[in-house]
Amino acid sequence: MTDFETILLERKGRVGIITLNRPKALNALNSELMREVVSAVEELEKDSEIGAILITGSDRAFAAGADIKEMQPKSYMDVYLDDFFAAWDRLAAARKPTIAAVAGYALGGGCELAMLCDILIAADTAKFGQPEIKLGVIPGIGGSQRLTRAVGKAKAMELCLTGRNMDAEEAERAGLVSRIVPAADLLDEALQTATTIAEMSLPVAMMAKEAVNRSFETTLTEGVRFERRVFHSTFATEDQKEGMAAFVEKRPPVFKHR
Ligand code: CAA
Repeated sequence: MTDFETILLERKGRVGIITLNRPKALNALNSELMREVVSAVEELEKDSEIGAILITGSDRAFAAGADIKEMQPKSYMDVYLDDFFAAWDRLAAARKPTIAAVAGYALGGGCELAMLCDILIAADTAKFGQPEIKLGVIPGIGGSQRLTRAVGKAKAMELCLTGRNMDAEEAERAGLVSRIVPAADLLDEALQTATTIAEMSLPVAMMAKEAVNRSFETTLTEGVRFERRVFHSTFATEDQKEGMAAFVEKRPPVFKHR
């Protein structure tokens, strides 16, 4: 297992847990943290014992954004030539299900990191926002696109143009988060959800994720056609045989993740 400086990586059953760990900077996302999250995700993606990836922060902050102190001296050429932030696309490309468990601030890149995950579970203390405009920049890890798809144009425009935060209730009403839980229960609840997913057939969960994600990229007709083909391909898995046999035999399924 790799050693990290800015995150913690642990495994609980079939769930890999990445905890952002720069408490003094409210988990601001500097380049090292970005590299470490991506490397941890790659490690968990390769690990056949892992069926879901949970990303969380601290009680006070999931992440208060990209690291402003690191960004301040950068020039246009620095960020252009480095394709600054592009490494985060690796998280969006993860094939295993990802869950963000958010307490406290999820601002700027923090909100974007949470939105890069497949499911977003919020503590009642969570605060979401895209305050980049107050710094003279715009979101750079997909916020203008993913927030708009999640909450619609009106609210995304307001948040991106005014920089105001929304609390967990507003975020749930708007469709950004799947549910709100008391802050004290956040990790347990999120781990339970991650474990439920991780115990399903891994290839079928990956197919379900791919099918839902396709809806963001294509027309309804093409999306339904894609879903149908992927549905057909589930019949090539051992886990489809096992899942249906278990139902008929009135017993719980034992998935082999094949
Ligand atoms: N980058 C670097 N350091 C940060 C940071 C960030 N995004 N957010 C907080 N910190 C640091 C603070 O500088 C402070 O460090 P010092 O003790 O060394 O001064 C420490 O974390 C604690 O922060 P505060 O004292 O500010 O804590 P607070 O409780 O008073 O306020 C807060 C909390 C409202 C979240 C405030 O810290 C804040 O506004 N942070 C910046 C939020 C922001 O603008 N995020 C967007 C960043 S740009 C971006 O993300 C671009 C993109 O699209 C990827």
